[in-house]
Amino acid sequence: MQTVTLNDGKTIPQLGFGVFKVDPAETERIVTEALEVGYRHIDTAAIYRNEEGVGRAIAASGIPREELYITTKLWNDRQDDAQAAMAESLEKLGLDYVDLYLIHWPAPSNDKYVGAWESLIELRSQGLTKSIGLANFVVPYLERILKETDVVPAVDQIELHPAHQQPATVELARKNGVAIESWGPLGQAKYPLLEYPELTGPAAAHGKTAAQVVIRWHLQNGYIVFPKTNHKARMIENFEVFDFELSDSEMAAITALEREGMVGGDPHALH
Ligand SMILES: NC(=O)c1ccc[n+]([C@@H]2O[C@H](COP(=O)([O-])OP(=O)(O)OC[C@H]3O[C@@H](n4cnc5c(N)ncnc54)[C@H](OP(=O)(O)O)[C@@H]3O)[C@@H](O)[C@H]2O)c1
Repeated sequence: MQTVTLNDGKTIPQLGFGVFKVDPAETERIVTEALEVGYRHIDTAAIYRNEEGVGRAIAASGIPREELYITTKLWNDRQDDAQAAMAESLEKLGLDYVDLYLIHWPAPSNDKYVGAWESLIELRSQGLTKSIGLANFVVPYLERILKETDVVPAVDQIELHPAHQQPATVELARKNGVAIESWGPLGQAKYPLLEYPELTGPAAAHGKTAAQVVIRWHLQNGYIVFPKTNHKARMIENFEVFDFELSDSEMAAITALEREGMVGGDPHALH
């Protein structure tokens, strides 16, 4: 598996498996299937209410802990209570540490995210998480963390797909050595992305599917990506993206699909 080296020296598998909206009752089975397919990087969150299922799948897999990369996230109403929130997540996951812990949203009207970041720095020093980062920190919030604290986040996980590429946030992150994780990499299937000729054309040319072409576009841009699916056939499809390469002109045509097509939540709002 291709990895990305983060600014704290740790490595992260560039392709993983996301479990947003995976039913807690189905999570153990679905994550077990993803691990069977070969995924070793799982992206969950306290608010997904499926950390227990992820934990059960990990325990049943017998895969050595150091071969797995597990991310979870601090929910908005726990920004002043990160130590306890982290303990609850670890308990549900059945783990001693996670690989990456993120502040899920800035929730700017609460004005607690700088303090939450200081708490994550402490959690990392306690060894409860190897790396720390942010999610949905678009320019003003990422800028404030960079200005007011001493630790540069390892990642910023933002909505990112060809229709919504958030260039200003990506540029600020890259300038400061913050890796970008793309959430909603397939447009959450809400955007008719997979029907665009800019994707179906290269798919036909390479003998791949439009979904594989989008995932490849993320990888070639250096983004970390973890598409979600409930279906094993699609888990396999989404994993088979390392045996072809998009040309510069194919990449450019996909990048030109930008249309501020946000499909998820607004980072400026409270969730
Ligand atoms: N930090 C945040 O605020 C945040 C927000 C959202 C997501 N995330 C993370 O990012 C991960 C990925 O994003 P996402 O789950 O929102 O959206 P996504 O991965 O862009 O899209 C998932 C949708 O695409 C469908 N799909 C998957 N593979 C497909 C394929 N090969 N062909 C056609 N359709 C396919 C899935 O349907 P089926 O399941 O029916 O196959 C599902 O409806 C999440 O699971 C979560 O870990 C983070």
